[in-house]
Amino acid sequence: MRQSTISVLLSTMILCVAQAFGQTAAAKAGNVENGKKLFVADGCYQCHGRQGQGGSSAPVGSYGPRLAPPRIPVEAVRIYVRHPSGGMPPYTARVLSDSEIDDIFAFLKSIPAPPAVKDIPLLNQ
Ligand code: HEC
Repeated sequence: MRQSTISVLLSTMILCVAQAFGQTAAAKAGNVENGKKLFVADGCYQCHGRQGQGGSSAPVGSYGPRLAPPRIPVEAVRIYVRHPSGGMPPYTARVLSDSEIDDIFAFLKSIPAPPAVKDIPLLNQ
């Protein structure tokens, strides 16, 4: 009797821990659709292009580099977005939460890399 109670308790604990890990993994993976929305809503697209391809639809001087697919890990993006260099404005946690940055990262990761120049026939004539 006592032993079965202990084993029920133990398996409940293991399930909880497993679930918590599962949730962390899901949160880390980010939500692509939400990231895509945030990329527009928070103005990232103005300097980095709608597909994170780089470029600018903002006034001259706001050119942002290509972001997709990301070259740096999500941890680095989180730090960078809060303390950017050059012409990028900082986004505090009040404007953009860490989990929203994760979603933007997931969106950028979902975008395929551009083809290499050697694979574009028109550029090889
Ligand atoms: C006003 C223009 C502007 C806006 C808006 C903007 N950025 Fe940037 N971003 C830049 C510029 C310019 C750089 C390059 C700065 C440098 O080279 O010092 C940059 C660099 C970055 C980098 C580093 C890229 C790398 O690989 O080194 C990341 C990541 C980034 N931006 C993400 C974002 C995200 C996410 C948003 C929206 C929440 C955003 N940016 C909004 C202009 C902008």
